[in-house]
Amino acid sequence: MYTARVDHELDAALPLAVTRPERLHDAMRYAVLNGGKRVRPLLVYATGECLDVDPKLLDVPAVAIELIHAFSLVHDDLPAMDNDDLRRGKPTVHKQYDEATAILAADALQPLAFSVLANIEGAPPAAAIELVRLITGACGSTGMTGGQSIDLAAEGTALCAAELEHMYSLKTGALIHAAVVSACLLREGLTESDAAALDRFGRDIGIAFQIKDDILDVEGETHVIGKPAGSDVSLNKATYPSMLGLEASRRRCDELLAEALASLERFGPAAAPLDWLARYIVERGR
Ligand code: IPE
Ligand code: IPE
Ligand code: MG
Ligand code: MG
Ligand code: MG
Repeated sequence: MYTARVDHELDAALPLAVTRPERLHDAMRYAVLNGGKRVRPLLVYATGECLDVDPKLLDVPAVAIELIHAFSLVHDDLPAMDNDDLRRGKPTVHKQYDEATAILAADALQPLAFSVLANIEGAPPAAAIELVRLITGACGSTGMTGGQSIDLAAEGTALCAAELEHMYSLKTGALIHAAVVSACLLREGLTESDAAALDRFGRDIGIAFQIKDDILDVEGETHVIGKPAGSDVSLNKATYPSMLGLEASRRRCDELLAEALASLERFGPAAAPLDWLARYIVERGR
């Protein structure tokens, strides 16, 4: 239900493909409207449900974070980065169009995300500014982009578990954590202890998400995961499975899941959608 909702909102936020420059707009729409799992938007709505936040307000961070995620994937797949040809079961943006168009489409998705945030209506101004601060931080050089830089520099090197988790908390965890915290910012009067519990939840599932992604790169099949299986091995990436083995990777995912679920206990049945999503993140097949 929320997947259809965010898809509709993303469609509405993106420029039409008939608007000039058509090829750029077409590539932006291709990058976003192509069957992603929408885990980050779902986390926004599920956290909002847990805290009883108006879903109309939640549309804004849900769309903004998914646009940033899509931009990060376009860049991640470029020849200068992971050089992958397949994403969400289709040719990557630079394969479908060309490299320059892929770079520009990603360039344009990022400010689009911030214009969506700037146009939020019905939120207290202080919360709106906090939201911008949260999401810019999660996207920038001490968030996702910084994590991607560490990931590239780590190719062919050996990292310990703590170093891997630091990298994961940035490249993947930052946006996932921001998805959870964004809904917290839109809940007036949230207690510090409830905010801290959801903050911990967001951090734990963010790291678990990337460990599971790495496990799927080893164990998954290309036609199921929708991206080239074995890509990490061929790039000599420093990943949890390559450094510590599959068994330890699975164990760490389970540990993080248990911690995440414990953080939800205080919210009772209202946290059921978040509970479901946390389990999905470590149990998913794609
Ligand atoms: C893939 O993210 C990139 C990572 C951060 C690991 P997703 O697995 O959420 O990709 P989509 O959006 O569902 O395609
Ligand atoms: C990517 O990690 C994290 C991003 C910020 C996009 P990966 O490189 O493992 O993601 P996939 O496996 O290509 O989706
Ligand atoms: Mg990568
Ligand atoms: Mg990649
Ligand atoms: Mg991966």
